Amino acid sequence: MQVELTQTPLAEIDADLHVLPRTDAEAAVPKEFAQVPGADDAKTSFKAVTLLRPESDGGPERLAIVGLGDLEGLDGERLRVAAALAAREAKRWKCSTIAWRLPVKGSDEGSRLAVADIIAGTILADYRFDRYKSASDENSDESKGIERLVISVGGEVDDAMRTEAETARVSALAANQARELQQLPSNVVTPSYLAERAQELARLHPSLSCDVLDRDDMERLGMGGLVAVSSGSAEEPKLIVLRHTGSGETLGIVGKGVTFDSGGISIKPSRGMEEMKMDMSGASAALEATGAIAELGLPISVLCVIPSTENMPSGTAVKPGDIITQLNGKTVEVNNTDAEGRLILADALAYSVEQGADRIVDLATLTGAVLVALGSTYAALISNDDTLAAEVETAGRRTGEIAWRLPLHPEFKELTKGKEADLTNASSKGKAGTIYAAEFLEEFVGDTPWVHLDIAGTAWDVGRDYVGSGPTGYGVRLLVDLARDLASKQG
Ligand code: BES
Ligand code: ZN
Ligand code: ZN
Repeated sequence: MQVELTQTPLAEIDADLHVLPRTDAEAAVPKEFAQVPGADDAKTSFKAVTLLRPESDGGPERLAIVGLGDLEGLDGERLRVAAALAAREAKRWKCSTIAWRLPVKGSDEGSRLAVADIIAGTILADYRFDRYKSASDENSDESKGIERLVISVGGEVDDAMRTEAETARVSALAANQARELQQLPSNVVTPSYLAERAQELARLHPSLSCDVLDRDDMERLGMGGLVAVSSGSAEEPKLIVLRHTGSGETLGIVGKGVTFDSGGISIKPSRGMEEMKMDMSGASAALEATGAIAELGLPISVLCVIPSTENMPSGTAVKPGDIITQLNGKTVEVNNTDAEGRLILADALAYSVEQGADRIVDLATLTGAVLVALGSTYAALISNDDTLAAEVETAGRRTGEIAWRLPLHPEFKELTKGKEADLTNASSKGKAGTIYAAEFLEEFVGDTPWVHLDIAGTAWDVGRDYVGSGPTGYGVRLLVDLARDLASKQG
C-alpha cells in the first residue's frame, strides 16, 4: 500500500472514499461537507460509521463519517479501530484509494502519532488470507484491496511526520507478513520454510546476514533442547540466526518457532489441535520485525535467533522422564513433552548470550495459562530488568500491543528444580504456569537484561477490529518501536 501525506484539504483530494473523522467536541461538520445530504446527522460516538453519497460533480463517490467519541479519551487504539472501520467500508465498496482527514491539527507529536495510528489501522485491516480459495468461491475476492492511502494533515508535512508515517507503514506491512506465516498451514510453513524466509529477508536488505544451523550443528554444539524436541519429527529442525548490522549495542530477539505442536508423547487432545500450526507466532514476529528494522535502517544492531522444529510423537520422540543437557550445561528432566517451547528457547537464549546480545527480548506462545490470566488483551511480560521491562511496556502501549508484567519470585523458582537433574520442564503442581516457564527460561540468560513475552493469548483470535479473529502479528510493531527507542537513546 502506498501512503501519502499532504497539505491539500480532504475535499480536494482525488479518492474513491473520503474519510471524515469526528469527535463529540465538534459542533458541526466542516463547511466543505455541509452540503452532503445527511452529513449533519452523522453520529460522532466511537465506532459509528455513516456512509454517504455526495452528489456534487467531481467529488469522491463516497464519504464515510467515522465517530471517534469524546476528545479527551481519544487515543491511538481508537484511531486504529476507526481506521479499520473505514478500511472495511473501502473494501466493501471496492475502493482502491482512500483519503483521510487528520482529526488533530498541527505538526506536534500528537498529530504524528495520529498519522501512524491511521496507517497501522488501515494496513492491518486490509490483510486477508484467501490464497487457497478458488476464484468461484463466494469468499474469494479478486480485488487488490486498498492500494493508496492519502492523509490530509491540515498543516505542513515535515520530516518528523514523514519518518513516523514510513515507520508505521513498514511495521504494519511486516506485521501482515508475520500474519501470513502464522496463518499458512504447517505442511507449508516448516522450519525449513522459516529459514528460507530469513534468507530471503537477508537478500532483500543489505544490512542483514543469515546463518542456518541444522541438526548436526545442534548436536555438535550441545543444543540438547532442540535436539530432543525435534527427535520425533521427520522435518529437519533449524536454528535460524538473522543479524542486522547497525551500530552500538546489540538487541537480541528470540522467537519460538514450533511449526506444529502436537504435544509429542504427552499428546494434546485432538479438539482444536489445528490451531497449533500457529505455535511459531513468536518466530514470525521476530523475523519480520528484524526485516522491518533493516528496511528502516535503524541505527542499532539486532541478533535475531529462531529455534524452529515440529513437536511430534513417534518411536524416536523424546519421552517423559528423559534427561537432557542444554547448551549452557544445565540438565533438565523432560516431565512433559508438551512443555517443549521452554526447552528450545533455553538453547536459543544461551546461544544469544554467547553471541553477544546486550539485551534480549523473547516472544513465545508458551503457556495456555496466560490465556487464563490475561485473556487475549495483554501479553504476559516477565523480566529480570526493570529498565528493559519498562521500555518494552512503553513500546507496547504506543503500538497497542500491550503487555502486563508478572513477577519472578524465589518460591516459583523452587518449583523448577528437578528431582534427578538441575531442572524439570513442568511441575506436577501446575502452579503459576506462565511464571514457572519464565523462571525456567531465566536459567539461561545469565545477567543479561531480558524480557520474556508470553504471547499465547495475543497471537491470534484477539477480535480487535483491525486484526479480526485470525493471526495478529503481535510483537512486530512493538519490537520495531522498541528498537527505535533504544537506537535513539544510543545517540
Ligand atoms: N504451545 C503451547 C502453549 C499454547 C497453548 C499456545 C494454547 C497457544 C494456545 C505450549 O507448548 C504448551 O503446550 N504448554 C503447556 C505447558 C504445560 C504442559 C506445562 C500448556 O500450557 O498447557
Ligand atoms: Zn506444547
Ligand atoms: Zn508449544
